[in-house]
Amino acid sequence: MELKGQAIIITGGASGIGYQAALQLAAKGADLIIADFNMEGAEKVAKEITAKGVKAFAFKVDVSKAAEVEKLVDFAVEKLGTLNGIFNNAGIGLVKSFLEMDPATYHKVIEVDQHSVYYGMYYAAKKMVALGTKGTFVNTASIYGFQAALGSFNYNAAKAAVVMMSKSGALELAPHGIRVVGVAPGFINTPILGNDSAMKKMLGDQHLHKQLIEPAKVSSVVAFLFTDAASAINGSTIPVDDGFLIHKNS
Ligand SMILES: NC(=O)c1ccc[n+]([C@@H]2O[C@H](COP(=O)([O-])OP(=O)(O)OC[C@H]3O[C@@H](n4cnc5c(N)ncnc54)[C@H](O)[C@@H]3O)[C@@H](O)[C@H]2O)c1
Repeated sequence: MELKGQAIIITGGASGIGYQAALQLAAKGADLIIADFNMEGAEKVAKEITAKGVKAFAFKVDVSKAAEVEKLVDFAVEKLGTLNGIFNNAGIGLVKSFLEMDPATYHKVIEVDQHSVYYGMYYAAKKMVALGTKGTFVNTASIYGFQAALGSFNYNAAKAAVVMMSKSGALELAPHGIRVVGVAPGFINTPILGNDSAMKKMLGDQHLHKQLIEPAKVSSVVAFLFTDAASAINGSTIPVDDGFLIHKNS
C-alpha cells in the first residue's frame, strides 16, 4: 500500500492502459479520479475500484478542452481532499497518409494527444503548488514519439511533444517537489488498435515476443513510476515496448 492516501487523476481511465492503471494504483492504496470522455465506462471502473476499499470517482471530461481539464482538477480536490498526481493517458489515433493529412485531422490528434498533456500538467501543477503537495505526473507517449511511422504524421508530432514535455516539465517542476516521467508503449492489446486481426498480428510480430503487449504490462510500470522507489527517474520516458525500439522493424 505504498500509495495509501495519495490522490491521483487518471485520464482515459475507462479503457485499456488507463483502466489497468486504475486497478494497479488502487492495489497500491491510491484514491482515484477516473476521467474519460466515456462516462458510462468511467463510472463502471470507479465502482469496481471503490469495491477494493479506496476512494474512486468518475468524471466526464474532454481532455482536449482546457476549461474541462481545469474543472477535472478542481473536482479531484473537492472529492479526494488533496492532489498528488495525474496520469495523462487519454489519447486517440487518426491514421492517414501525409498527402491526406488535412488540417482538421492533424489538429484533432494534436489537441487530444498533445495539448491535453499540457493542460493536465498545468492545472495539476498550479493546484498542487497552491495546496503545497508533492507528487508525480506520468504522461503516456508512444514508440511513435521516437520513431516515424507511415500514416502517423499527426501522432508522431504529438507523441514526440509528449516526450519533450516530460523532460521540460520535470525541469520546471522539480523545485516544487513534482516529478514528471513518461511511458512509451509498443503495440498494446486495447480497443485503440481496432478489430482487424491480420493488422493486429502484423503489429504484434514487431515485438521480440511476437505478440501484442497486454495493457497491464504498461500499467505496472506506470504504477511503479508513481511510487517512491522510482524517485530517481525524472524527465525520462520509459519504453514498454518488448524491444520494438532496439531493432530495425520491417
Ligand atoms: N494501444 C497501443 O498500441 C498504444 C501504443 C502506444 C501508445 N498508446 C497510448 O496509450 C494511451 C491509452 O490508449 P489505450 O491503448 O489504452 O486506448 P483505449 O482506446 O483503450 O483507451 C483510451 C481512452 O481514452 C479516452 N479518450 C479518448 N479521447 C478522449 C478525450 N478527448 N477526452 C477524454 N478521454 C478520451 C477513451 O474514451 C478511452 O477510454 C493513448 O494515449 C495512446 O495513444 C497506445
